[in-house]
Amino acid sequence: MGTTRFHGFHGRSTEGFRDGLADSSGDPRTTRPYIVRIVHVLLLGSAAGGGFPQWNCWCPTCRAARDMPGRAHPRTQSSIAVSADGTHWFLCNASPDVREQLGRIPPRPVPGTRHVPIDGIILTDAELDHTLGVALLREGRALHLYATGAVVDTLERDSRILPVTRAFASVHVTTLQLGEPAALVNRDGSPNGLRVEAFAVAGDPPRFASNQTDGHTVGLVIVDAASGARCAFVPGCGALDEALLDRLAQCDLVLLDGTFWSDDELIQLGIGDRGARAMGHLPISGDDGSLERYARLPVRHKVYTHINNTNPVLLTDSAERRAVEAAGVVVGDDGDAWQL
Ligand code: MLT
Ligand code: MN
Ligand code: ZN
Repeated sequence: MGTTRFHGFHGRSTEGFRDGLADSSGDPRTTRPYIVRIVHVLLLGSAAGGGFPQWNCWCPTCRAARDMPGRAHPRTQSSIAVSADGTHWFLCNASPDVREQLGRIPPRPVPGTRHVPIDGIILTDAELDHTLGVALLREGRALHLYATGAVVDTLERDSRILPVTRAFASVHVTTLQLGEPAALVNRDGSPNGLRVEAFAVAGDPPRFASNQTDGHTVGLVIVDAASGARCAFVPGCGALDEALLDRLAQCDLVLLDGTFWSDDELIQLGIGDRGARAMGHLPISGDDGSLERYARLPVRHKVYTHINNTNPVLLTDSAERRAVEAAGVVVGDDGDAWQL
């Protein structure tokens, strides 16, 4: 895995362990417990559908990703992996780049010949950039999916990713009810301790979806019951209302839709005729863009992900990148990692 880059984890764990060591030499009555459970979150892919650079695109940012390594570098399609113990991992969205992305999960000794490094796959929608990887993991023989009924229906009937995958592997589906946390389960059937809650967000259903039922596009909050650590993953989000902002404010880490800088980004470049909002993605900039409200959220780690190849925040030296960082928000990158 020569191309695997791992930046190391951002988070409180190092301080936690240092505190634990310092306290253990003092009065036992004031000794604080070690943080024994640490939720690990790995940003496997930070680009939107098509990746960066997109194969058929020579917009200014895609050109930079090909020709100017100091200004921009390639990124894979949107996905994260979450683990509460560093051993059992859950993918949130399975991208077409999943094979390369799984190489970022820290390796562990494998006793036999075959080993599936993930325990389950949680989906935010049925878009191709989030679900083609399900079929690509068919060699795993048994897969466990967590998704809403609307997403499962589109995978069954429209993209047919589920019937195709089932020709190779058994697929166990846990249907997520909106607003009701579901317990995640390890491959061996034991409880994992993480829970996931899906909540509906404004969005555009996939263009091939025959139903537009509630839950076609969701955000996820993953909670560790033992430590209380919370991570929100919302790669597609057409609006930020008070209810959603309140929900995100409870989290230690938020990974939010950073697809477009401006509503007319694709129109200005002459490569699209729909605005960002019409595509179900609230743009970052402007008075009613996401950054203005995101910046004010009292959340420790605020990150943009699912970044489209045209978005100028991808350029390390752009004014748009500086504006995001000055607001206390990170432009997510493949290999970024946090401990909560
Ligand atoms: C989106 O994020 O809007 C979709 O992924 C679009 C696409 O995949 O074509
Ligand atoms: Mn997408
Ligand atoms: Zn481009």
